[in-house]
Amino acid sequence: MASYGVKIVGVGHYAPAHVVTNRDLETWLDTTDEWITTRTGMKRRHWASEGEATSDLAAAAASAALVHAGLRAQEIDCVIVSTVTPDYYFPATGCLVASRLGIPEKPAFDIAIACSGFIYGLTVAAGLIRSGVYRRVMLIGAEALSKILDKSDRSTAILFGDGAGSVILERSNEDSFLAADLHADGSRPELLYAQGSGSRRPFDQAALDAKEHLIHMQGRETFKLAVTKMVETTDAVLGKANLAKSEVTFLIPHQANKRIIDATARYLELPEEKVVVNITEYGNTSAASIPMALSETVRAGVIKPGDVIIFVAFGGGLSWGAVAWRWAA
Ligand code: ACO
Repeated sequence: MASYGVKIVGVGHYAPAHVVTNRDLETWLDTTDEWITTRTGMKRRHWASEGEATSDLAAAAASAALVHAGLRAQEIDCVIVSTVTPDYYFPATGCLVASRLGIPEKPAFDIAIACSGFIYGLTVAAGLIRSGVYRRVMLIGAEALSKILDKSDRSTAILFGDGAGSVILERSNEDSFLAADLHADGSRPELLYAQGSGSRRPFDQAALDAKEHLIHMQGRETFKLAVTKMVETTDAVLGKANLAKSEVTFLIPHQANKRIIDATARYLELPEEKVVVNITEYGNTSAASIPMALSETVRAGVIKPGDVIIFVAFGGGLSWGAVAWRWAA
């Protein structure tokens, strides 16, 4: 099989205009800015307004990436959207986004693996290019988690936000993809899920009354697993890429909790300035958090050619994984 290199040639991100601060949450929840800040690192999150759906956020981030790359949508061969908050069960949100971009005939699909969505998506997209199937792939992580939040549950309502981040991957002589390490464990879905509208628990009045269509999470247990697995998978991806910790320039982790991020950074022995954190502004945006953080960092001119980035995530599935990536010019 043919083998090509891959690199990222454009990044973009978008967050809905409506900002919800910790102080705003205090007005209807039994919580405080101090509790949320010290337990999670979050200060604000953006929530989509009525009528604003995941494909709207995704299309905005995709358009920004096209402008950043200096490409027309017609030059994209395939659109992938990582999301667990699709507009509909079907069609896939990827199809809707491709249409919005004016390329409805191009292949488009979704990846539903929650907070690990960008890690899985990057691995799939890079694989499609490195194997020669496509020359350019648009990968978008996009979520409107506020639409499946129980806004009266202080243990989850404070955590999640909406947004989208996008990268355009292109065939290249150099190869940015160094290694991937992916995992999943579906034996305990109840740790983090929205059950009441799938085929195991079809949506009905009882599901609605019990709010089973909304996010439920066992936070403490998830937290402990997240810390362990983020470190394990980071270690594994370094081994697969044959990299020493000292060769890592930036850590761009999923933004679930600042304390989880800190534990991973400590393991890598990375100083604060090498760890990309935007949880303060956006909260946990699941599949969108890593590409949003990457886009902000690249656009700020912080990442330079040759820099080694570790992307790492843990989330619903359970699922976790990491990708080692060398930034190319
Ligand atoms: N304000 C004030 N008090 C609160 C709040 C709140 N918003 N939420 C919970 N509490 C209380 C609890 O009721 C509990 O009180 P008790 O001791 O009287 O019972 C106390 O605070 C401690 O609760 P814990 O849940 O143990 O708090 P913890 O320190 O674990 O922090 C948190 C909770 C922030 C949710 C943390 O567990 C966490 O970040 N979990 C992991 C999240 C994660 O990684 N998810 C995976 C990715 S998401 C995805 O895939 C979609």
